[in-house]
Amino acid sequence: MPLPALRKFERKIGRQIRLLEFRKNLIERKIGRQIRLFEQKRDGIGRKIEQQIRQFELKKGIRLDDEVRFIRSWIERPLTVGAVTPSGKILARTMARYVDPNSTGPVVELGPGTGPVTEALVEAGVDPSRLVLVEFNPSFCRILRSRFPEATLVQGDAYSLRRLLQTMLLQPAAAVVSGLPLITKPLTTRLRLLRDAFDLMLPGAPFVQFTYSVASPLPKRLGGFSVEASERVWMNIPPARVWVYRKT
Ligand SMILES: C[S@@+](CC[C@H](N)C(=O)[O-])C[C@H]1O[C@@H](n2cnc3c(N)ncnc32)[C@H](O)[C@@H]1O
Repeated sequence: MPLPALRKFERKIGRQIRLLEFRKNLIERKIGRQIRLFEQKRDGIGRKIEQQIRQFELKKGIRLDDEVRFIRSWIERPLTVGAVTPSGKILARTMARYVDPNSTGPVVELGPGTGPVTEALVEAGVDPSRLVLVEFNPSFCRILRSRFPEATLVQGDAYSLRRLLQTMLLQPAAAVVSGLPLITKPLTTRLRLLRDAFDLMLPGAPFVQFTYSVASPLPKRLGGFSVEASERVWMNIPPARVWVYRKT
């Protein structure tokens, strides 16, 4: 092709490319607008649904998002989570009753989950800055961090209590409150946890544990510690009992 004809051809192609780019930009902008519109609608619907959930929660006095998170975690790790729903208020208050809010020293909570027992402890007068929460589920940890910003959150395995807390606690703990599904663990592991908890506390301080099972999760006749039990809390799903162990 002669040179002038080639230049003319290039200019023509160049024009067509620019036209195509112009059209492409137009289409991209149109798609962008549609996506933003869709996102606005989706967020609006999401907010409406959330509002309705909040209203339902207020009316029924429950937290549905906690229930949903709990069920999801339970499906993923049933033996670790150990319950399908968070503890109800009455069970949480029964646990908190065994902790003296006027005592001194940290109050350690093992397996706080979404925090119903933590909330009951705070309601009972325990200063949130005294709380040391040991939880290893990362999504529960996120919730706890936002709900109890003054508490110390330790993301880790509560069965390694000695390693986790030995150097962290500057004075003996006033109480250890446990929501761990203890009975899913071998007896030796449970007893080691109790011994480690006692080592963090002064004699007489309570190790508070709830269980759905009929019997005490720690053998009553071993000696070395006293055992006390609450009435069965029937208003919990499933009904549960609180056991309190104290080093004698
Ligand atoms: C039965 S749920 C109780 C949750 C909460 N205390 C309540 O009463 O709703 C057990 C909790 O213990 C936590 N957990 C289980 N094993 C644990 C471990 N080894 N270390 C720390 N947390 C653990 C689970 O993630 C869950 O949050």
